[in-house]
Parts: sequence; structure tokens; C-alpha cells
Amino acid sequence: MKKMMELLEAELSSAFEAAGYDPSYGRVTASNRPDLCEYQCNGAMAGAKTYHKAPIMIASDVAAKLHESPVFSMVEAVKPGFINLKIREDFLAEYLRDMQADELLGVSRAKTPKTIILDYGGPNVAKPLHVGHLRSAIIGESIKRICRFMGHKVIGDVHLGDWGLQMGLIITELRRRAPELVYFQEDYEGAYPEEPPFTIGELEEIYPAASARSKEDEEFRNEALLATHLLQQGKRGYMALWNHIMNVSVPDLKRNYDSLSVEFDIWKKESDAQPYIPDMVKRMKEEGFAYENQGALVVDVKEENDTKEIPPCMILKSDGSSLYTTTDLATIVERRKLFDPDEILYVVDKRQELHFIQVFRCARKTGLVKDETKLSFLGFGTMNGRDGKPFKTREGGVMRLENLIREIDEEMFRKIVENRSVKDTDARKTAEQVGLAAIKYGDLSNQATKDYIFDVDRFTSFEGNTGPYILYTIVRIHSILSRFEEAGGSLAQGRIEPAASEGEKNLMKELIRFAPTVESAYEEKAPHKICAYIYDVSNAFNSFYHDTKILSEENAMQKQSWIRLLCLTKKVLTIAIDLLGFSAPERM
Ligand code: ARG
Repeated sequence: MKKMMELLEAELSSAFEAAGYDPSYGRVTASNRPDLCEYQCNGAMAGAKTYHKAPIMIASDVAAKLHESPVFSMVEAVKPGFINLKIREDFLAEYLRDMQADELLGVSRAKTPKTIILDYGGPNVAKPLHVGHLRSAIIGESIKRICRFMGHKVIGDVHLGDWGLQMGLIITELRRRAPELVYFQEDYEGAYPEEPPFTIGELEEIYPAASARSKEDEEFRNEALLATHLLQQGKRGYMALWNHIMNVSVPDLKRNYDSLSVEFDIWKKESDAQPYIPDMVKRMKEEGFAYENQGALVVDVKEENDTKEIPPCMILKSDGSSLYTTTDLATIVERRKLFDPDEILYVVDKRQELHFIQVFRCARKTGLVKDETKLSFLGFGTMNGRDGKPFKTREGGVMRLENLIREIDEEMFRKIVENRSVKDTDARKTAEQVGLAAIKYGDLSNQATKDYIFDVDRFTSFEGNTGPYILYTIVRIHSILSRFEEAGGSLAQGRIEPAASEGEKNLMKELIRFAPTVESAYEEKAPHKICAYIYDVSNAFNSFYHDTKILSEENAMQKQSWIRLLCLTKKVLTIAIDLLGFSAPERM
């Protein structure tokens, strides 16, 4: 299906040509002056120089060629040389019918689908999920869905953090608390217990305690560093503990991501890269990329045009243990081997940008990736509290994701019960569904790279640019359609007829923007564009609805046309929120 803008431009271009001008001047944009026109063409202004003519003369010549246009109901040349345009209602209605018949609502799928590995989520085992991990999950999930909708093959990888210092810290703290455990006996050769020596609750308490201790106690810290190193070397007792940590931690993480409707295709982890490290390091040395610097092994990654200093990429620490960069590099090797991706896209806190610059450069320089493989970093900003500082609990601690979700759900529940007479059990489920929309929309409606303020009151409001408002609109449409069906009507009959009012036409003009919006959200990896779009659609729908008595309309053809228009509006909104990663209840 052609985009509406292409059709409008084609019409303008042939008019330019018919009037003796270059057709490339026929570019059309949405109007800057919605009070005067719906679309406009500024080509005459641009052509004035070439043709040594006043722009208004060119504009008039072109407008004269469009008097009988099947596309435009109004074509006006206005000073100094703009062409103001309004689209014909019958042309618009026909376009919407085509869109309605198209499964993808006019979106053009990628001609050559890419294999994209999406690295998002990135939680660390044994640490509770906190709000810092929320954004990666929400943004990544949406980008995954958008890329898939565009026809690409996307492999979402949670890339668990399980190979760094936090593991050594936990092991060392455990040892301090219970040195008698068999995992710490040097000469032990038997099998290790199946039962973990801790619960998830204990584990989550152990990590922060260990982390705090390591900051005060240098000896403890050195032990933890050594433990990390020994774990990476595969020391039996430590591997057994690592296994316990994974078994206790991963189901908990899965449950959390489930409640966020975030679904990873693979649950790989840093440690999966371990087998690739020795070879990778050996090659980097042999080929002369890696050299020793103060005991550590590094690869230079600075480039001539750098405006700021890019330090060398560390490959191994002086004790031979691997670092965050090491596992990320070796993971690239692994991903190439397992999936041969066209692109690897990382959705990670923007404060890690330097790390990814180093990793990407090092991977290219040392030939870990093919030249044509794209490595991209989508760095997101911080989620702040209402005080503008990184989001904390009331007590000033790190906010656990679970608690944050619970808080939102409670607030949603309160509002839903206050508003409606939904039965209690129903209201709980609905509150969770709407609560998720509140959180996700609140996040995604901001440009990902920017910091934003997490504001429970605003996000859970049924009015304004919020998730609940969008859901409310869908629920409203759903309810009209249900009532129509209950009265014996059929949603499949009839067709969208030309708009009968300005409000209806406005809604139609919003609907046709679906495909270009989704395509540009894909191109720019920008879910916020979809949010802005569905807010416009919802506003247009609600104002149309306000002015139109749909179900009591007596003209059957008119009524059926509106029903079809509502079906399309609902479909547009429903697909759009699915791309954002949430869904609408049947009622609220
Ligand atoms: N675990 C990391 C953290 O919490 C994020 C991992 C992001 N992905 C990656 N391949 N480095 O900061």
C-alpha cells in the first residue's frame, strides 16, 4: 500500500510537471496552519530561483492544474508562494478502506529482513530488580515488538550479569558467615548439596551487606576479587554456589519480567561467554592488538577524530580475571557463532556509553564482527523521582521494582473502584493491566535518551497524555461496538464513507498516519513517537465521539460507516499499544 504522503506528492508532482516545472518540487508536508489547510506544498518557493519567477506565479500555475483533482478538494496558491491543500473526503475514505483491508494497516515490511540481537533487561543475578532495570526492560521490549512488526527476526537476550565482582562478594560474605559450609573445604571431592544454603530473601540481603563491607574492609574486598577470579577459573565449590545462586535467582527474575509482560527469547548470561575468552585473548595477543599495560592486558581504541579521551579497552585484569568488557566482547564472538546477526542492539543506561564505545571499537578493530554487522547502543536516561533526583524509596533506599509496581497497582485499583462498579476481583486484575500501561506509557512517552520524572499521580491519571487515558479510549470504543452488536448489528458490514464532519475528518487524518509513524519509530528506535501518535488519535476520537451520536443515528449507511471507522480506530490503537508492550482490558 502506498503512503498517503506519496499519493499526495505524486499528485502535486504531476501538476508541477504539467505546468512546466520540475516534478521534484512537489513535496507535501502536513500543514503549519491547520486553520487554513490540511497539507501544504512549498515547492514554488524553492523553485523561484531556478525559474526566475515570483513564487506566487509558480504556485498559481500549479494550482490551476489541480482544479479537477481527484485527490484535493481545495488547492490555493497564497502569497508569497505556498500551495495550501485540503484532501477530498471521498479520497480519504477510500484510502481508509484500503488500510482497513490491509493486515498491517499500510505498514511496509522490510524487504530484506535482518537478524537482530536485542540485548536488554541486563539484570544481575542475586540482586533484586530495581527501578534502574525497568527502563531497559520496557524500552527493549517495545523495540523488539516494533522490529518484529517491521518483519525482522529479533532475538531478545536478557544477558544476565552473573560473572562479575558481585558473585565474588556474595561468595566471600557467605564464607565469612558460614565458613564450615562444604563449598569452602579445599579438599572436598564429594557431591555438593542439592539444596541451596540460602533463600532468595537471604540472597538479596547478602549482596548489599557484602557490597557495603567491601567498601570499608580492604581485605574483604581483595578476598572477593580473588573469589571472582577463582569462580571464573571454574573452582568446584564456587561453581556449585554459583549454580545455587542461579537456581534461586533466575525464577525470581522470570516472575518479575512476567509481571511486566517482558519476554526474552533467550536467557543467556555473561558466563556463557567464558569458553570463548581464552581463544579470543590469544588471538588479540598474537595479532598484535592486545598489549600489557601496568600488568593488565589492553587494546587501544582511541581514534584520530576523538574529541574526548577514549581510554584503552581492558581485556584482562592484572590477575588474569575478566571484566565487563571481556564478557561483552566474548559474547559478541558467541553471538556471531550462534546467530550470525546483522545487528546487535544494546538497550542500556546511557551512563555506560563509554563502555560500549570501547567494546564496539575493540570488536571492529580486532575483527570479532564482520564489517557489515551493525553494533548499536541505545542509551537511555535516568528515571528520577519528583525531586528530580534518581528514584528512591521514601526512606531513601533503592526502590525494588516489585514495590514500585505494587504501588502503582494500588493507586490504579483505588481509582478504578472509585470510578466504577466493577466487581472486586475483576478490579484487581484490571488495575494490574492498567497499572502496567501507566508505567510503560509513562516511560515510553519520553524520548528514551532523556531523563524523566516518574510521577505516580500523573501516570495513573485517566486524563491527559497517559496510558490509562489511551486504554480508556479503547475501552470506550469497545463498549460502543459491543452495544451495537448486542442490538443485532454486524461489525463486518458496510464501509467507511466520506467524513460527515470536520471532527470525523480529523480522526481519519490521524488514522492514516499509523504506517509512517510506526516506520519512523522503527528507523529511529523511538517508541515515544508511537505514544505521541496514539495520544493524537485518542484525542481526535474523543472529540469526534463527543460531537456524534453514533448508536442513535437513523441513517443505516451512515451508522455502519461510523462503526467501521470505530473498528479501524480500535485496531490502530490496539496494535499500537501492543507495540508498546501493554494491552487493554474490556472494561475499566
Ligand atoms: N548487567 C548490566 C548492569 O546492570 C547491564 C548489562 C547490559 N548488557 C550488556 N551486554 N552489557 O549494568
